[in-house]
Amino acid sequence: MNTPSTILSAIPRRLHTQPDHPLTITRQLIESRFPGYKTHNSLFPIVTTHQNFDSLGFPPDHVGRSRTDTYYLNEKTVLRTHTSAHQADTFRKDEADGFLISADVYRRDAIDRSHYPVFHQMEGARTWDRRLAEKQGKTLAQVIWENVEKIPKHTVEVSDPNLTIHPERNPLQDGHSADETEAIAAHLKRSLEDVVVAIFNAARSASTDAGSAEEPLKVRWVEAYFPFTSPSWELEVFWQGDWLEVLGSGIVQQSILNNAGVSHRVGWAFGLGLERIAMLLYGIPDIRLFWSQDTRFLSQFKAAEPPQRFVPFSKYPACFKDVSFWLRTSSSAGGGAAPSASTSTSGFHENDVMEIAREVCGDVVEDVRLTDEFVHPKTGRRSVCYRVNYRHLERTLTNEEANELHERFRGELVDKLGVELR
Ligand code: PHE
Repeated sequence: MNTPSTILSAIPRRLHTQPDHPLTITRQLIESRFPGYKTHNSLFPIVTTHQNFDSLGFPPDHVGRSRTDTYYLNEKTVLRTHTSAHQADTFRKDEADGFLISADVYRRDAIDRSHYPVFHQMEGARTWDRRLAEKQGKTLAQVIWENVEKIPKHTVEVSDPNLTIHPERNPLQDGHSADETEAIAAHLKRSLEDVVVAIFNAARSASTDAGSAEEPLKVRWVEAYFPFTSPSWELEVFWQGDWLEVLGSGIVQQSILNNAGVSHRVGWAFGLGLERIAMLLYGIPDIRLFWSQDTRFLSQFKAAEPPQRFVPFSKYPACFKDVSFWLRTSSSAGGGAAPSASTSTSGFHENDVMEIAREVCGDVVEDVRLTDEFVHPKTGRRSVCYRVNYRHLERTLTNEEANELHERFRGELVDKLGVELR
């Protein structure tokens, strides 16, 4: 359907399992903070829309389901967009109280130094069996608080200004008591703070940007929304002058556990992006580098040694080229029967431009940015201008090469999107 072969060819790479790859080392560092959790690192990326969306309570009209955001293989089969696609199946196995799933995930998205259509996530979950608490003659909340006490303590400043539960925005679930939710939330937050502190201490000893600053680490919890957790929170880290979101989390919707045949369980889940954490840990400046097979990149990472700050082996010159085009008008775009692939009236979606750039230029394209937009006052036609930054990661690109790529890019925009170049 809308899945190019270049995307499919990423499937066998399994970067998060390659020995001494920075994503593998980052994964292992996080896993080491969750002793006893069962790890899954080889779950297959092709899943059903049921696994990726329905099982998690995504409404039928959720934007995440759209062809502009998600790679479809057929009507009911997609490349997973997040590791949460495996939550329900893993709960159903009922093998362990805690589990961690690391995997490649796939999303149609913008192109820049922190976005790549294939990236890696880690999902974690911890649940408790209500029946065991009962057998021990304790309340569930008591048992959970005892577990909270076992999580290593840290001294990092954490800001958590919101109440655990917000009646409208972040509600308690039916069947969960406020006591239980507070206990689960405390276990979730303390566990994830411990991970972030461990990563930043490692980064500090690597004296990366994350660690070299004299400033102490600052983290904060903010309210969030996910269809599959409630209440939900995101954890943010103050990094280079900005708050950076590092993970999403929350109390697992009981319906997911019930549908998975483990209605006696309650607990939490989180999902984090491994690239983002590895970029902080090592000071890796561009997400394309993770895919590099150049030994100047790969030889810099050793699982057995404490992390060292990444030393860029190049900053080859950037080459900017613009392309401007008129979008098809709604009438010429229609054709009637075919369902629109996008939310906009002219059937145009920016992610299509991004994908063509990746298809034509591979990893030579660093960034594609909308720089101008214009609606003709008489005809109402819309014109856009994109600026493409061509930069090879491993050598200098000649102007002829950049021109040739840009010409092919322009041609494909016309052929595939039916736009009119200006
Ligand atoms: N799957 C979510 C995402 O990709 C993250 C998440 C996982 C949030 C588990 C809550 C619980 O953004």
